[in-house]
Amino acid sequence: EKGGYATFMEKEINEQPHAVADTLLGRTDESGRLVLDELRISEEQMRAVDKIVVVACGTAAYAGMVAKYAIEHWARIPVEVALAHEFRYADPVVDERTLVVSISQSGETMDTLMAVKHANDLGALTISVCNTHGSTIPRESDAVLYTHAGPEIAVASTKAFLAQITACYILGLYLAQLRGGTYADDAASVMHELQDIPAKISDLLGRMDRVKEIARFMADTRSVLFLGRNVGFPVAMEGALKLKELAYIHAEGFAAGELKHGPIALIDAGQPVFIIVPSPDTPHELHKKVVSNIQEIRARGARTLVIAVDGDEDVVPFADEVIRVPKCSPLLQPLLTVVPLQVFALQLSTAKGLDVDQPRNLAKSVTVE
Ligand code: M6R
Repeated sequence: EKGGYATFMEKEINEQPHAVADTLLGRTDESGRLVLDELRISEEQMRAVDKIVVVACGTAAYAGMVAKYAIEHWARIPVEVALAHEFRYADPVVDERTLVVSISQSGETMDTLMAVKHANDLGALTISVCNTHGSTIPRESDAVLYTHAGPEIAVASTKAFLAQITACYILGLYLAQLRGGTYADDAASVMHELQDIPAKISDLLGRMDRVKEIARFMADTRSVLFLGRNVGFPVAMEGALKLKELAYIHAEGFAAGELKHGPIALIDAGQPVFIIVPSPDTPHELHKKVVSNIQEIRARGARTLVIAVDGDEDVVPFADEVIRVPKCSPLLQPLLTVVPLQVFALQLSTAKGLDVDQPRNLAKSVTVE
C-alpha cells in the first residue's frame, strides 16, 4: 500500500506531480478558458464579490497565504487569510458580497467547519477547497472546488498542500477571467504554464540527494530558521511547520524583510537558516533584497541553506549550500520551492529514528475545537 516506499509521506511527496496535474484536469475548455461547472455559485454572484476571506488551519492556511498573493494580483479583489479558530471568535466584517474560501484536506477539521458555519450565518458566500469527497465542510458550503491529490495518509500534509495551492490559482484566474480587467487575458497563459509544473516537480524530486545528505548531518540540530518573501514567506512558514511536526525541532519561518526588525538577533555562529530566494524576475527587486539578507546573516555566522532557481548565480558567494529548483513564473514558485523543505523534514525525522507518518501528539484530522 506504500507503493514500495518506506513511509506514506515519502510516497505522497513523490505523488505530487500527479496531485497538481489531476487538480488541473478538466478545468479549461479547448480555447483555454476556465470553466468551473462544479461551482454552485452563479457568475453574477461571483462577479459581485468585493472581498475574500480564506479560513483554514495549519498547512492549509499557508496555502491560503499563497492564494492571497495570487488572487489579489490576478483578480484585484482584497484577500484576508484568517486562521479558522480565530475567525470564528472574532467579529469579522463579512456580508453577502464576501466570498469565504475554506481550505481543508480532510473536510472534517472542526475549527474550519465552525468558521464556515459562522460565515454562512453572516450571509457570506462560502466555497470549500477540499480533498475529500462527501466530507462535512463541502456539504456545509455553497460551492466546492475539489483538489485531486488522492487520499493523504501521512499526518504531515504534502501533496494536499500543492493541490490546494493549485486550486487557489484556478480560483484566482477564474475570478480574473470573470471580472475582466488587466489580468483577464493572462488566465489562459498561466493555466498553460501550470501544465508544465508537474514535470518540473518530477525533475526536482530527482535532484534531492544532496538535501537528504544535509538532513542526515543535522540530526542534532536544535533550531532551524526559514526566510522567504512574497509567496516565499508562506513557504518558509510551511518549511518550519514540517520540521516541528516531523523532527520535533524548534523552527520558525519569517518574512525576510522582518529580519532587521528583530529576528536577526537570533543569528549566531552555525545557526542553520533556509532562505527561499525569489526568482530574479520577481518584481520590486525582491531578489536583490533577499540576496542581501543572505549576505547579512552569513556575515553574522549563519549557515545559509539557499533555495534558488536554476541559473541564479548571485546567491553563490553567500551560500553554504545551494539547492536548485527549476524556473517558473514568480507566483507559481511555491509549487517547487516547498518540495526540498518537505524532503528535508522527512529525512531529518528518519535520521532521528522517529515515526514519520504518525508524529507524537498529532492526529491526521482534528475533529475537536
Ligand atoms: O484537513 P485539514 O487540511 O483541514 O487540516 C488542517 C491542518 O490540521 C493540517 O494541515 C496540519 O497542519 C498538518 N498536520 C500539517 O502537516
